[in-house]
Amino acid sequence: MPATDRLALHGARVATLEGSEGYGLVENASVVWRGERIEYVGPRGAAPPAEREWEAGGALLTPGLIDCHTHLVFAGNRAGEFEQRLKGVSYAEIARAGGGIAASVRATREADEDALLAASLPRALALRDDGVTTVEIKSGYGLDLDSELRMLRAARRIGEASGQSVRTSFLGAHALPPEFAGRADDYIARICEDWLPQIAESGLADAVDAYCEGIGFSPDQVDRLFSAARRHGLPVKLHADQLSDLGGAALLAHHGGLSADHVEYTSAEGVAAMATAGSVAVLLPGAFYALRETTLPPIAAFREHGVAMAVATDLNPGTSPLASLRTAMNMACVLFRLTPEEALRGATVHAARALGLSDRGRIAPGQRADLVLWQAEQPAELAYWTAGAAPLRVIAGGRQISC
Ligand code: NIG
Ligand code: FE
Repeated sequence: MPATDRLALHGARVATLEGSEGYGLVENASVVWRGERIEYVGPRGAAPPAEREWEAGGALLTPGLIDCHTHLVFAGNRAGEFEQRLKGVSYAEIARAGGGIAASVRATREADEDALLAASLPRALALRDDGVTTVEIKSGYGLDLDSELRMLRAARRIGEASGQSVRTSFLGAHALPPEFAGRADDYIARICEDWLPQIAESGLADAVDAYCEGIGFSPDQVDRLFSAARRHGLPVKLHADQLSDLGGAALLAHHGGLSADHVEYTSAEGVAAMATAGSVAVLLPGAFYALRETTLPPIAAFREHGVAMAVATDLNPGTSPLASLRTAMNMACVLFRLTPEEALRGATVHAARALGLSDRGRIAPGQRADLVLWQAEQPAELAYWTAGAAPLRVIAGGRQISC
C-alpha cells in the first residue's frame, strides 16, 4: 500500500487522552491517518476520504501503549534466584553474594549479538501483542564497552524486527563489574571519560540511566556521570530511591532529568524538586510486587504537586519478569491505588514524556498513528482485566504490526 494512501478506522469509541483530565472520549468516531501521522479524529461525516477503511464496530481505540522502562535485552534467566528469594534470601543478599545483576552480566557477556536478539525479541513481541508500540530498552548487563554496545545494537534490531519504536538508554552504571571490584570511582571515571564519548558518537543511546542505591552507585558518582552525559547532549533518567532514600529523585531533578524511576522511598523534598523540574515519576509495580516490598511510592504527594506519573513493566530477569504493560497497569491500580485513568495516562501520555517524546501518547492530528483497537468497551477495562481484553489491532507509525 503506497505511503501516501489515507487509511481510516470508523465507528470506534476513541480514548484520545486529550486534555489534562478524563479519557478524552469521542464516541462513534473516525480516525484517519496518512503515512505515519494522524490527520483527522472526529465524526465520520466530516472525515476526509480514505483509500482503505476498516469498521471498528464500537470497539475501544487508544493510543499505542508506551513501556518507558525495560531491561528486556539479556541472556539466561534467574529463576533459581526466584526460588532462593522465596526461601527468605533478600535481593541485596543475593547481589552481595555475586548473583543478581552480576549473574545476568556473566550470561549476557557470553552471548553474541544474534543470540541476544534471539533471546530478547520474544519479550518485545509479548509486549507488542499486548498493545505496546513504543518500548524503552536499557543496556546494563554488559558493563564493558563492547558488551554494552552489543546490547544497544540488539535493542535497535528489535525495533526493526517487531515494528515497535525502540528508545534506548545506556545503563553502564547499573552495577560494578568484577574487573572494577572495590574501585567504583574508577569505573565511573572510565564511563565518563572513555565510554560516554563513544556511546554518544555511536548514536546507539537516546539517554543515560544509572542505579543510585547502596548496592548500586552513590549520589556523588551519579552526579559526575550525569554531568558528563549532559556535556554529550544526552538526557538523563535514574533508578532512584527504590530500596532506600539516597536523595536520587532530587539529584535527577537537579540535572533536569526526564524521569526518576521506582521512587518508593522518595522524600517530600524529592517530590517537590521533581515538580519544579518537570521530571516524570515512573512507577514500577512489577518490581515492588516481585520483591514483596511494603513501602509505597508517595502517590498522594505526586498528585498534590502535579508530578506526572508513568507506569512501566521494568521487564528484567531479576526483579520484574513481567512482559505485560497491562498487567503493570493493573498492579499500579491494585498495589499503588492509581485510578484506571491514571494508569492509562501513565502508559501513554506520561510515558511519552518520560522518554522526551511529544509526538505520541495521544490521539490527535499531527501525532504518530500509534493506535490500539481493543476487545473492550470501557477504557477502565484495560487496567481492570489482569489478562484478557486483548488487542484486535496494533498499529505503529500507521502500519498494523500485530493481530
Ligand atoms: O530496575 N534496580 C536495578 N535494576 C533492575 C533490576 C535488574 C536485575 O535485578 O537484573 C530494576 O529493578
Ligand atoms: Fe529498572
